Amino acid sequence: MVVVSTIVDLQSRLDSIKKLSIGFVPTMGALHQGHISLVKKSIEENDITVVSIFVNPTQFNDKNDFQKYPRTLEQDASLLEKVGVDIIFAPTEKEIYPEPDTRKFDFGMLDKVMEGKFRPGHFNGVAQVVSKLFDIVKPNKAYFGEKDFQQLAIIRTMVKQLNLPLEIVGMPIMREQSGLAMSSRNERLTAEERAEAAIIYKQLSESLKYSSDHNIEETIKYVTEGINDAKHLEVEYFDIVDGNTLQPITDWNSTDYIVGCIAVFCGNVRLIDNITYKRTN
Ligand code: PAF
Repeated sequence: MVVVSTIVDLQSRLDSIKKLSIGFVPTMGALHQGHISLVKKSIEENDITVVSIFVNPTQFNDKNDFQKYPRTLEQDASLLEKVGVDIIFAPTEKEIYPEPDTRKFDFGMLDKVMEGKFRPGHFNGVAQVVSKLFDIVKPNKAYFGEKDFQQLAIIRTMVKQLNLPLEIVGMPIMREQSGLAMSSRNERLTAEERAEAAIIYKQLSESLKYSSDHNIEETIKYVTEGINDAKHLEVEYFDIVDGNTLQPITDWNSTDYIVGCIAVFCGNVRLIDNITYKRTN
């Protein structure tokens, strides 16, 4: 395995192996088993796997969150080496943004709700960095976790809009034993908060049964109140949406793909998760 930090070095290595298929896992580091599941899938499906580690400043609407984001390159590299990654691309900010990126993406209503509504500019920043990384790495397939449900929908849309010649692969959420969705942010929780954060998935799971004889409004209330009852948890939003358009729905029969997406503050750490109520398409 090699670690490279410049585009030139990365591309000259990739040029020499051009006939091979390239799998790509973009990350911001602080890797956990959720990332590793993406990496393993990429290794299984491609000749070469590239993992990028770059904490992208343009997707943070909160400077404090950007500064506090865990940076653990050495630890990440040794984890990736063990799994069998070929190349880690760990660029500097100047390497990715030699000039400020002024591009504005238009995702219609997709980024006007949920994360897009509560983190203005976030998805534009994600699209900026992911489109640059795709252009640099030129992967055949790129792997993303379904925990970031809205991000995955936006990246799929961006790939269509830009006619990018690659396949986007979505991978199921990995959970801790308690049910808490794996996230780099979990590291910032105290032991007490981490134990309590398990209530998020517990309540989402229980709402699957509850939803069979309650309407959407009642289900939203059930999830939100159940979570807000916990000492350290505060729901920012819980929306039940059409899984394709991401727009909130008011009737279980209005579409055949229904997902509940949630953002919760646990102390001052913001966590997201989601659950599929229905998928028949
Ligand atoms: O999901 C993430 O970790 C980031 O949003 C991504 C896709 C690596 C872009 O910075």
